[in-house]
Amino acid sequence: MTITTTHSELRDKQQKVWSSGDYNKIAALTIPLSEHLVDHVGIGSGDRVLDVATGTGHAALAAARRGAVVTGTDYVPALLDIARRRAEAEDVAADFTEADAESQPFADGTFDFVLSAIGVMFSADHQQAARELVRVCRPGGRIGLASWTPEGFVGQLLGTVGRHASPPPGAQPPTRWGVEATVAELLGDDVTDVASSTHTVVQRFTGAEEFADLFLTYYGPTFAAAGRLDDAGKAALRADMIDLARSFGSGEGNGLVTEWEYRVVTATRR
Ligand SMILES: C[S@@+](CC[C@H](N)C(=O)[O-])C[C@H]1O[C@@H](n2cnc3c(N)ncnc32)[C@H](O)[C@@H]1O
Repeated sequence: MTITTTHSELRDKQQKVWSSGDYNKIAALTIPLSEHLVDHVGIGSGDRVLDVATGTGHAALAAARRGAVVTGTDYVPALLDIARRRAEAEDVAADFTEADAESQPFADGTFDFVLSAIGVMFSADHQQAARELVRVCRPGGRIGLASWTPEGFVGQLLGTVGRHASPPPGAQPPTRWGVEATVAELLGDDVTDVASSTHTVVQRFTGAEEFADLFLTYYGPTFAAAGRLDDAGKAALRADMIDLARSFGSGEGNGLVTEWEYRVVTATRR
């Protein structure tokens, strides 16, 4: 692959975004999504599993608890350190390696399962990241990807953020990975049996304000966008995040309950 200056600049910007805020403070919200992904693809004892863009290791650890031989990769070292500490605390074996989703340091066909939970969708070059998912999966092995849908809560949140602080030139919308046909096209002819289904993960907050402040403080994409805005711009972004949470929410008065939609796409490597 020829890495152009534009591509490496974009990748570096995005890596800084995920290093900003403190993703670990909110990562636990999506543990059920990773547990579901690992169950959905049917990982069992002895399976060789790669979790791409593992963050603090949710899917990797879920697979390791099922007895799989697991590697997780991510390009934010601080998140991998937390994943290692979690594995140690749980006394499960999992290897965590710093790597870009677009260039995985593994031989062709190394893994029985290649997973990514709301991770690879944020890569700079979607096609190159998809090529790598397919390359490191063995023939007959399975790929399983969970991604926020464009119309779901987080898809709409990312859209809202983009309207206040435009994404860097050349950035591809992450929620493309929440559309089955797009993922099928990205994975290409070296996979078969592409299938998908949508699911939701339920999130509870004391109110829409708590959601907005939590995400403005800790979630890299919203934290970084707010950092590029003046005070009035930040207030407008916060107000739109509150409106969004209210529009998806139920149960105000007893806290705010929101359902965040994601799509799981599975495919078999030919
Ligand atoms: C929303 S977090 C999800 C983390 C984890 N999979 C989970 O379920 O909690 C997105 C993750 O993707 C990682 N990421 C995004 N683009 C990446 C890339 N090109 N290479 C490696 N990691 C990447 C970020 O560092 C971050 O940890």
